[in-house]
Amino acid sequence: MSALHEELAAVLADMPNEQRVKVAGRDFWVGHWQGHAVVAVLSRIGKVAAATTATVMLERFGVGALVFTGVAGGLGPQVRVGDVVVANGLVQHDMDASPLFPRHEVPLYGRAVFDSDAHLSGALATAAQQVLQVPERHLGSATLAQFHLHAPQVHRGLLVSGDRFVSTTAESEALRSALPTALAVEMEGAAVAQVCLDYGVPFAAVRTISDRADDTAHTDFNRFIAQVASRYSHAILSQWLAQRPAPGVRLT
Ligand code: ADE
Repeated sequence: MSALHEELAAVLADMPNEQRVKVAGRDFWVGHWQGHAVVAVLSRIGKVAAATTATVMLERFGVGALVFTGVAGGLGPQVRVGDVVVANGLVQHDMDASPLFPRHEVPLYGRAVFDSDAHLSGALATAAQQVLQVPERHLGSATLAQFHLHAPQVHRGLLVSGDRFVSTTAESEALRSALPTALAVEMEGAAVAQVCLDYGVPFAAVRTISDRADDTAHTDFNRFIAQVASRYSHAILSQWLAQRPAPGVRLT
């Protein structure tokens, strides 16, 4: 699942015989990539759109695992534009049913943090490390220079999601103070993690940092997505699938 058109287009270019199936107004692309059965879809933006899309993926297509890719705003002090964050856990930062429930806790789930699948996330983090070790292979040195990307890093930790594009320093500081361990903020992941928990299906989220979620959030958002984020996502997913055991091979 992707929040970005450009990312989906890059993936579909590698799935030449995919079939389009329309459900709930969305196009689900069913095919193969690197020898694996894959369904690719645009989630649209925000928690409800992502939750609806995830539910169709699970109910209608019976996917065995769900991976979300996209961009995020960096919150952790060490998380820079061009880095990649692989979620260990996800929180809905705009969930607040206090005083009935503790802030951020999703009522009747008894939790604020929805864990990603450790094995899936580990494999994606390994693929991301491999891609970022030689970023010029995927982006070209002109793009690296243009966006001032230097020695990009992979981080693992907490992603927070909410129905807001965070673009002021005041708001990102408020998020940092409410959720001090948060590495990055986006608009879908924690909702999809909740749906995947409901269905008992492994989930992982991989996000390229496009901005610092502050007043300086760069204005070249669309160019960054086209030239950096969608290329990273494509390379990371492709590398991960190439290394994933073929269907029918059991891990012991
Ligand atoms: N996705 C990318 N940057 C973001 C931001 N600053 N806030 C929310 N979602 C984002």
